[in-house]
Amino acid sequence: MCGIFGCTSLKEGVSKLIYSSLKRLEYRGYDSVGLATICNGHIFLKKDQGKVEEVERRLSLSALPGRCGIGHTRWATHGAPSKENAHPLTDCEGKVAVAHNGIIENYLELRSKLGDSGHKLRSRTDSEIIAHLIEELLNKGLTLEEAVRQATLTLRGSYAFAVISPLCEDKIVCVRMESPLVIGLSRDYTCLSSDIPALPPDVESIIVMNDGELAVLTPHSIVIRDLESNQQLPLRIVAKESVTCLADRGGFTHYMIKEIFEQPQAALNVINAPRYYIVKLAEELVKSDRVYLIGCGTSYHACLFGSYVLRSIADIDAQPVIASEFSESHVKLGKDVAILAISQSGETADVLQVLRSYVNKDVKLLALTNVMGSSITRLVSSYVGLYAGPEIGVAATKTFIAELLMLTRISIEVARIKGVNVDLISGVESILRSSPKLIERSLTLNEPLAKSLSVYLSLKNSAFFLARGVNIVTALEGALKLKEISYIHAEGYPAGESKHGPIALVEEGFPCIFVCPHDETYYKILGNVMEMKARGAFVISCVEEGDKEVRETSDRIFVLPKIETKLLTPILHVVPLQLLAYYTAIARGYDPDKPRNLAKSVTVP
Ligand code: G6P
Repeated sequence: MCGIFGCTSLKEGVSKLIYSSLKRLEYRGYDSVGLATICNGHIFLKKDQGKVEEVERRLSLSALPGRCGIGHTRWATHGAPSKENAHPLTDCEGKVAVAHNGIIENYLELRSKLGDSGHKLRSRTDSEIIAHLIEELLNKGLTLEEAVRQATLTLRGSYAFAVISPLCEDKIVCVRMESPLVIGLSRDYTCLSSDIPALPPDVESIIVMNDGELAVLTPHSIVIRDLESNQQLPLRIVAKESVTCLADRGGFTHYMIKEIFEQPQAALNVINAPRYYIVKLAEELVKSDRVYLIGCGTSYHACLFGSYVLRSIADIDAQPVIASEFSESHVKLGKDVAILAISQSGETADVLQVLRSYVNKDVKLLALTNVMGSSITRLVSSYVGLYAGPEIGVAATKTFIAELLMLTRISIEVARIKGVNVDLISGVESILRSSPKLIERSLTLNEPLAKSLSVYLSLKNSAFFLARGVNIVTALEGALKLKEISYIHAEGYPAGESKHGPIALVEEGFPCIFVCPHDETYYKILGNVMEMKARGAFVISCVEEGDKEVRETSDRIFVLPKIETKLLTPILHVVPLQLLAYYTAIARGYDPDKPRNLAKSVTVP
């Protein structure tokens, strides 16, 4: 992952702008941070382990002099989080500074060659070799651009990086190869960033770089070249507003809770999303015999939900697969097969890797993403946006609900085209229309209990989230939310399967969270609640308004609005579980927006 940002400006004080952009990029990684600028023929560099604001307090990153610089927020892959391994990284002689995101696969081989020719590498990263390779080529008399280009041609892997040098005080050279990179244009400066949402507010237009491109930026010029052929390419400038809008905490303590409360609006945005693109994607699905839904983390849970709605509403053979596990040895591909990739960021490496391997083959590639202009949108033949607005909290919340709702809309369109399940569609549509109100009510009904239960849960080491049928999606997502931000071990499990192993862990006071809407699985899950109670579990259940039996056997209950089409209950029942995870993280004293070891956008495979 990692976030990189660079800026070359007509004005002094570029480090302030880089620093504030690094804060916006922090969700990509926050174990260390660094900033380098060029001034009076020298590289000024400050970096250390820690979050952006902590390191700023210690080192005053934003006070570095100069008009041109680069910065980096790190999520460690090669080499532990430390000052030495923090970026930017320099060569032996201080000729270049490099900020890198991604992985250089052949770095061991390159590192040993550089060592043999006398280079002193100071970090344990795969990234530092880039600086030394460029140094080597500069020493042979190449220009900075050409040295960067030729160094890049020796690298294998997925990466994006930016280079500055005192040899060209106002220039940044950057490269994109399978890791995201965008260029921002403003009146007084040109900048680059790993992500569109991190671009400064006064950036007016952007260029999304393609893989295999190198760009040379100065405050008033941009040149993009093809890395292989060195040919100059036309600039593809688009207005920034067409792809993004800005995020702030809007008075909430954390982005996560703000985003949880934005879910009614996210639902409304899905309902109002233009039908045209949804129909286009649905038409592709109708032509397919089978669709594989691929995603990671929360988006994989959406894939699981998608497989239920596509099968039940649209009669489509839909199979969910974790993107990093997608391999032809366990999926059957052919002419009439589609892959529908789901990714909030549109940049998750595991997802992109699958798509890249089927570009120009006989498989239809489709996507659902929250970020227009992201890499995923350029790999597929048809995609639909989520319109959820920027999501900054690392733990996905509003985009999950948007994914579920959009998958439901897609399923309806497929069913319409196929002329199937006509009776079901009108019920589903009416729930979709009232989903903003239903989600709103799920929030207000359950926030007080989530707060008070968080105190109890914060003292536990482990919890189960159990459900049956489509709500296994809810159980998995509830467990993921709790473990990723409160660091309590949590397992989402099919309730019926819990007696085949997990139940062995249950003792007096063990938290078991059940998801029990009144669907066809209700009486079976009631049996599972009893089994857990009989062994001393503390049972918290999500039930529908008017529920009697589960209410009586549970210790605490979250109450959700009752809906007729039970297939859509995950959209409501996940809400109290998000709140529970958020407040438990707070009760344990953790920052839910920046959980340890995680990042919002995972651009390494
Ligand atoms: C990371 C994030 C998760 C997210 C997953 C997939 O692991 O921490 O919150 O669900 O990536 O991200 P995507 O952008 O592809 O939905």
